[in-house]
Amino acid sequence: MKLALLALSATLSPLVGAHAVAHAHPYVAPTSTDRRSPCPMLNSMANHGFLARNGVNISMSDLISAFDAAINMAADAAELVGSVALTASTTGNASTFNLDDVDKHGIIEHDGSLSRADIYFGDNHSFNASIWNGTKAYFTEEVITISTAATARAARLALDATQNPSMNMTTSQFTSSLIESSLYLTVFGNPVDGNASRSYVEAFFEEERLPYHLGWVRPTDGSNVTTLETLAAKIAAVSV
Ligand code: HEM
Repeated sequence: MKLALLALSATLSPLVGAHAVAHAHPYVAPTSTDRRSPCPMLNSMANHGFLARNGVNISMSDLISAFDAAINMAADAAELVGSVALTASTTGNASTFNLDDVDKHGIIEHDGSLSRADIYFGDNHSFNASIWNGTKAYFTEEVITISTAATARAARLALDATQNPSMNMTTSQFTSSLIESSLYLTVFGNPVDGNASRSYVEAFFEEERLPYHLGWVRPTDGSNVTTLETLAAKIAAVSV
C-alpha cells in the first residue's frame, strides 16, 4: 500500500508541479503601455509574468530563468538569441533590453514571418491575422507534423516573394526562420519529431499565451540548441 502510494505520488508530482507553475503565472493581456515584441513567445512569457509584464529591462538571467520555468528550454538557447537581442538594447544598460527593441529589422526580425508583415509594409511587429490565416490554412489536421510546418513556412515565403518587391532574407535569417518553426513544434509538440497540437499553436500565436487553459503544461522533455537545430534540419529536409 505504502509502495503504491509512493509510486502514485512519483507519477503525479511533475503534474502537480506543472499546475502550480500555471497557477502562479496567470495570463493577463498587456496594457497599452506594456512593451511587446514581434516574438510570440517573448510576448507570451511577459503575458504570464515569466518575464516582466511591462516588457522592459529584460536581462540574460531573466531570459534563462523564464526559458527554464515556462518551457523547459536550456540556458544555451536563451543565451544564443538573447545575446543578439541585447545588441538592439535601447535601455541605456547594455545588459538589458526592452521587448520592442527587437522590432529593429535585420537584427533578429526578418521578412517572411508566419504571423507578421514585412517591414516594407510598415508594421513588422504586430500579430497580423490575415498573414497568420494564410499560414494556418495549412494546418488541416489536429497535429502539426514536421512536414506540415515545412509546407506552411515554404508557402508563406513563396507568397511573400510575390507580394513584397524588396523581400529579402539572408542565409542566417533563413536559418532563424527554420529555427522559429522548430521552436513552436518543440514547445507545443516534442523536440524530436514535432507533432505539435494545432489548438495550442493557434492559441499561442493568436492570443500570445501559453495554452494552459487548453491543457498544455510545461514540456517534460527538455530542449536546447542541439535539439532545436536538429529539428530545424528535419524541417529543412522536407521536400516542399
Ligand atoms: C531570447 C529569446 C528570444 C528572442 C530575443 C526572440 C526574438 C524573436 C524575434 C525578434 C522574432 C521576429 C522574427 C521575425 O521577423 O519573424 C521572433 C520570432 C519568433 N519567435 Fe522568438 N525570440 C526568442 C525566443 C523564442 C522562443 C523560446 C520561442 C519558442 C516558441 C520563440 C518563438 C518564435 C516564433 C515561432 C517566431 C516566428 C513568428 C512569426 O514568424 O510570425 N522565440 N523571435
